[in-house]
Amino acid sequence: MTWHVVIAGGTGEVGRQLLALMADRPDLSVRALVRRPGSLPAAANVEEVPFDYEDASAYGPLFSPPCDLLLLALGTTRAKAGSDEAFLRVDRDYPLRLISALAAAHPDARVGLVSSVGADRARGLYLGAKAAVEEELAAQGLAHVIARPSFLRSDRSEFRPLEVFINRLIAPIWLALGRGLFPRSRGWWRWAPVHVREVAAALLGAALTLEPGQRRILEGLDLHPGSVARWGRP
Ligand SMILES: NC(=O)c1ccc[n+]([C@@H]2O[C@H](COP(=O)([O-])OP(=O)(O)OC[C@H]3O[C@@H](n4cnc5c(N)ncnc54)[C@H](OP(=O)(O)O)[C@@H]3O)[C@@H](O)[C@H]2O)c1
Repeated sequence: MTWHVVIAGGTGEVGRQLLALMADRPDLSVRALVRRPGSLPAAANVEEVPFDYEDASAYGPLFSPPCDLLLLALGTTRAKAGSDEAFLRVDRDYPLRLISALAAAHPDARVGLVSSVGADRARGLYLGAKAAVEEELAAQGLAHVIARPSFLRSDRSEFRPLEVFINRLIAPIWLALGRGLFPRSRGWWRWAPVHVREVAAALLGAALTLEPGQRRILEGLDLHPGSVARWGRP
């Protein structure tokens, strides 16, 4: 069977890892939504689809072709977006529109969502947006898997001061203490910084093995299987 995959956010840190894992797999046919053509490395099974998220009429036709799996890795920051409203469009409204258009066209499809730790106890703008998307997935009845990472580790070229601080200072200490003292502590690993490639691998693996109607949440140790065992790796 060939899986027909649509990915939104494929140019981001987690999204690029998802695409790297899917590239050139003969069992996957991928359409990657991009704002600017030429944003992604070429791969035989990946088609770039320029998409205007602001155009409400574009969502229905997007799912006229088959789609077995929608991967959602969209996101921005309040600072980058410039206003609460602009932030919510990217982190809440675009995913909601994609989910609802997918459910209307392909109710048997699955969704893999990159959310955030804390989305189950949402307070504030950021987690409120994540919670709204998670709730919509449950309401639409689509099979889905949700990754709830803590701070992401990556080689992001854009300068985000908090991420740099966490990556350089907090993450090595947090991960070393976890490996040494709390290797099986759910609470410790739930909040541990996690590398984007581990989030992508866990999300894609779970999405491709979901049972119809199943809901899975990946957090903590689900996202850190390698980190716990391997000293010296992020
Ligand atoms: N950073 C963290 O520590 C952290 C922690 C937990 C959860 N998360 C969540 O994890 C998810 C993935 O994070 P990430 O760091 O991989 O994201 P990222 O690198 O910032 O990538 C964001 C993606 O969203 C797209 N995007 C941003 N603004 C857009 C807009 N106005 N219209 C259309 N597309 C837009 C980007 O496309 P362009 O390339 O075209 O800009 C890119 O593909 C996000 O939902 C984030 O909230 C992040």
